[in-house]
Amino acid sequence: MKPMTVVGNWKMHTNPAEARALLRDILRGLTHLREIHGSGPWPRVLVAPPFTSLAACQETLRDDEFAETVWAIHLAGQDVFWEAEGAYTGAISAPMLLASGCREAVVGHSERRRIFRETEEEAAKKAKAALEAGLEVFFCVGEEEKERERGETLAVLRRQLEPLWSLLPEGSQGRLAIAYEPVWAIGTGKAAQPQDAEEAALFIREEARKGGYPGDLPVLYGGSVTPENAGAYFQVPSIQGALVGGASLKAASFLGILEAARKGAEGSS
Ligand code: 13P
Repeated sequence: MKPMTVVGNWKMHTNPAEARALLRDILRGLTHLREIHGSGPWPRVLVAPPFTSLAACQETLRDDEFAETVWAIHLAGQDVFWEAEGAYTGAISAPMLLASGCREAVVGHSERRRIFRETEEEAAKKAKAALEAGLEVFFCVGEEEKERERGETLAVLRRQLEPLWSLLPEGSQGRLAIAYEPVWAIGTGKAAQPQDAEEAALFIREEARKGGYPGDLPVLYGGSVTPENAGAYFQVPSIQGALVGGASLKAASFLGILEAARKGAEGSS
């Protein structure tokens, strides 16, 4: 059975009250789905709220109402800085994320790379620091539309991944996943073909092997994933989950994607 992970990246959406309401709706929906379908095989579910809403989400997860379902959801940071503390205005460190209830962090999202001008080396340094501190890392890579048109997709993925392999600390095996998110597919409704995602996933695994990464490396797909198209990604052999933006902001559509992941895991048994 293929282990699946679905991450809801809430980006710069939800103030604390909105985050609490959204998480409650997701937890209630999950409880309901579990009543219908039983305990498995459910995907691992993560939500990455803005930092300012982590405390509200942590409180919600402690609510007695969700005692039965709370194990099913983890909180993740949307980004993490490479130093543990210091004079870095606006930055959030891995120990801070851990203390705020996160066990995972998204690193190197294309919005960080493009809008905030984060370099490949910086993304790799962030991943290293997060892994060293004990977080699990979802490391994002993906090409821009022009790069795909020029046939440079695999070269771009290699370039984005390259600094990572030499920086990975001992013991990161099993705590790193790669999210393949083609930039042109993010928020555009132009999702990649499942076969293209499969090709990228196979390439990423091969790069990991060449880079000396030991063992299996899960690859997720991200970019305009919806309840309608999610099943097609979960059915291709090398995709082990999804990183979801827009469709994670409504409980109904996020739950639809979780159902598709459950069916995908079942189908691969
Ligand atoms: P959308 O699902 O809105 O395309 O966003 C994808 C994404 O960037 C998730 O990190």
